Amino acid sequence: MSARDVLLDVQELRKVYRTPGVLGKGTEFVAVHGASFTVNRGETFGLIGESGSGKTTVGRMLLRLLEPTSGYIEFDGHEVLRLARPQLRALRRRMQIVFQDSGSAFNPRLSVGEQVAYPMRKFGLHPKNEIKPRVIELLEQVGLSADQAQRYPHEFSGGQRQRLGIARALAAQPDFVVLDEPTSALDVSVQRQILDLLRDLQAERGLTVVLISHNLAVIQHMCSRAAVMHHGAIVEAGPVDELFGAPRSEITRQLLDAVLEPVAVTEVLS
Ligand SMILES: Nc1ncnc2c1ncn2[C@@H]1O[C@H](COP(=O)(O)OP(=O)(O)OP(=O)(O)O)[C@@H](O)[C@H]1O
Ligand SMILES: [Mg+2]
Repeated sequence: MSARDVLLDVQELRKVYRTPGVLGKGTEFVAVHGASFTVNRGETFGLIGESGSGKTTVGRMLLRLLEPTSGYIEFDGHEVLRLARPQLRALRRRMQIVFQDSGSAFNPRLSVGEQVAYPMRKFGLHPKNEIKPRVIELLEQVGLSADQAQRYPHEFSGGQRQRLGIARALAAQPDFVVLDEPTSALDVSVQRQILDLLRDLQAERGLTVVLISHNLAVIQHMCSRAAVMHHGAIVEAGPVDELFGAPRSEITRQLLDAVLEPVAVTEVLS
């Protein structure tokens, strides 16, 4: 693999959360430590691990929505952690995230069309008169309809809000997207639809994706390579077939054992 094929290079990422204590003596919690991995252009890289293992913390640090305590992140030749605000702003367009809880990531007082249009306006991606048709095109691409642009977030279901989150992320025309549990709150048939949609959009746009999920079936379906997290550290990483076919760490084995409920796995995969 040559350096040109690597879009994202993450080394020794660390996050210590500091909580102020009642008597002024705060506590520290090491949420992520020693996390290193690379993501190749055009691939979907999975981040797996039980609840609280640090997946979302890593995902947010990749975009610097959360400041790492230490570590190194290189995105397409840019040292992300060294960028000053204006340069970071330019990079932000290229790096998008669909949040774990898409519902709360929308402003309840603005129509969803306005919110999907926001990145287009902010980054000046289209002439003014082309914004509305672009919004409608995106909504349709994620399986929503033109007339839904006037509606407000509370008028959408959980699955529809995930689609809106994806539409808003794509509105920025990114080349990299972090999808944080894009389907975990949804029932199996809707999960399947959204995963298929993501795969189509990815193939169409040549997106590079980091997909966070605790659902191994989803990871297996979507990803070429993945890393397994446990208590803030990456315990194993590699091609998904190898990870799942011949797990080297006890943690991966335990994750696999936990989902050996054939019904749940085949429902998502079939
Ligand atoms: N703002 C914060 N302050 C203090 N601790 C935090 C904060 N955010 C997260 N944590 C802690 O850091 C650890 C990792 O959290 P994170 O949200 O990254 O886990 P996760 O793997 O995404 O979990 P889940 O699968 O439940 O979404 C958890 O123990 C969590 O309680
Ligand atoms: Mg999370």
